[in-house]
Amino acid sequence: MTDIILRHCRLPDEVDIAIENGRISHIAPKIEAAAAQEIDCAGKLVTPPFVESHIHLDSVLAAGQPRFNQSGTLFEGIQIWGERKQSLTAADVKQRARQALELMATHGVLYVRTHVDVTEPRLIALDALLELREEVRDWTTLQIVAFPQDGVYSRPENEELLEEALRRGADAVGGIPHYELTREDGVRSVQRVFDLAEQYDRLIDIHCDEVDDDQSRFVEVMIAEAIKRGNGERVSASHTTAFGSYNDSYAFKLMGFLRRTNINFIANPLINITLQGRMDTYPKRRGLTRIKELWQNGSNVSLGQDCIYDPWYIFGTGSMIGVAHMTVHLAQMTGLPEIDACFDMIGINGAKSLHIQDYGIKEGNPANIVILDAPDAFNALRFQSIPLMVISQGKIIARNQPAVLSWLNP
Ligand code: FE2
Repeated sequence: MTDIILRHCRLPDEVDIAIENGRISHIAPKIEAAAAQEIDCAGKLVTPPFVESHIHLDSVLAAGQPRFNQSGTLFEGIQIWGERKQSLTAADVKQRARQALELMATHGVLYVRTHVDVTEPRLIALDALLELREEVRDWTTLQIVAFPQDGVYSRPENEELLEEALRRGADAVGGIPHYELTREDGVRSVQRVFDLAEQYDRLIDIHCDEVDDDQSRFVEVMIAEAIKRGNGERVSASHTTAFGSYNDSYAFKLMGFLRRTNINFIANPLINITLQGRMDTYPKRRGLTRIKELWQNGSNVSLGQDCIYDPWYIFGTGSMIGVAHMTVHLAQMTGLPEIDACFDMIGINGAKSLHIQDYGIKEGNPANIVILDAPDAFNALRFQSIPLMVISQGKIIARNQPAVLSWLNP
C-alpha cells in the first residue's frame, strides 16, 4: 500500500502526490488508490526543499562568545572568531552545526553547502562536520567545502592542509584569493584550487572578491580557468561583491566572457549588505554582486545565508525564504518574473550550484517535499511563509503552525 498521499497540491497545477518507500511513486490530477496516511494540502504550494548554497556551520550559533561584535565589521568578527577558535572541540562544532541544520530543516531547507575553515592545523571542525554529514544523511544533505580561511599561501602549512581536507573527504575545494598576501599569490591560489579539483574529482567553490575594492579581480581568473578547462558547471564563485564596484566597461567585458562558460554565482545578500560599504561615507555602496545583471546574462545565481547568529552576523533564522525576500529588495528584482527568479535562487538554481542530481518533485525522485502556507511563490515571499510541513525521504520531519493574525473588529 502507498505510504502517504498528498492531495490537492499546487505544483502549479493541482495534483495528488503518492509516496512509497521514501520515493515519489506517482503524480496525477487524481490518484484513486488508498494510502496509510492522506494529507489534504488544500491547494497550497508544494515545492522541493530549499537549498542553502553557502553557510559556515563551524561558526554558527556562536555570537557573543566571548563577546558580541560591536562595530559590525568583518575585521572585528575575524578577531572575535580568532579567540573563540582556540576553544573549538568536535562536540562543540557538531552540537551547534546540528542545531542549525535542524532549524533549517524546519524551514524546509534540506540541501546545505557549508564551508569549513581548513587553516586550523588540527582540522577539528572539518572532522566534526564530516562525521555530522554521515549522521544526518537520512534527513538532510550536507556538502562540505574545504575553505582556507587565512589563505592558501599565507602560511607554509596551509596548502598541505587544504589537500589533506580533500583526502579526508571534503566534497569541494575552496579558496580566498582576495585575502592572499599578493595579487600573484591570489592568481596562483585559484589555479591551485582548479588543479586540486581535477586531481581529486571535486567541485569548486571559491570565496572570490569579497571586498569593495574595484581592483579585486579574481573572478576574471576563475572565469578564465573555467573557459580553458571547460568545467564551468562544477565551479561556483561565492560573494563576488567587488563585481558591484567594477566600472561598467570592465563588468560588461566580464559578462561577455561569462557567456562562454557556465560557472555558478552564489550571493549572500544579508551578510554582505551589512559587512560591505563600511569604509564608505556617502553615497554608500551596497556591497552586493550584480545579482540581477548576472541572472539577465544567463548565469546561474543561487543564494546563501553565510551566517546564523555568529561573530559576523547576529541575525539569521535558518529560513531561505527570508534570504530570497531580501534579495528582491537589495537586487531590485521587483518585477513579477524577477520575484519568481529570486524564489528559484533558493531552489532549483541552488540544486544546480550544488550538483544535486535527483532534485525536484518528479516520479522516482526521493520524496523530499515542502508544503508552504501560500498558493504561489509570489505570496510565499510576500508573506515570508513558513512551511506547514516538511517531508524528507518520505518521512514527515517538521510540522509548523503559521502565525494567526485576527482582526477583532472592536
Ligand atoms: Fe562565506
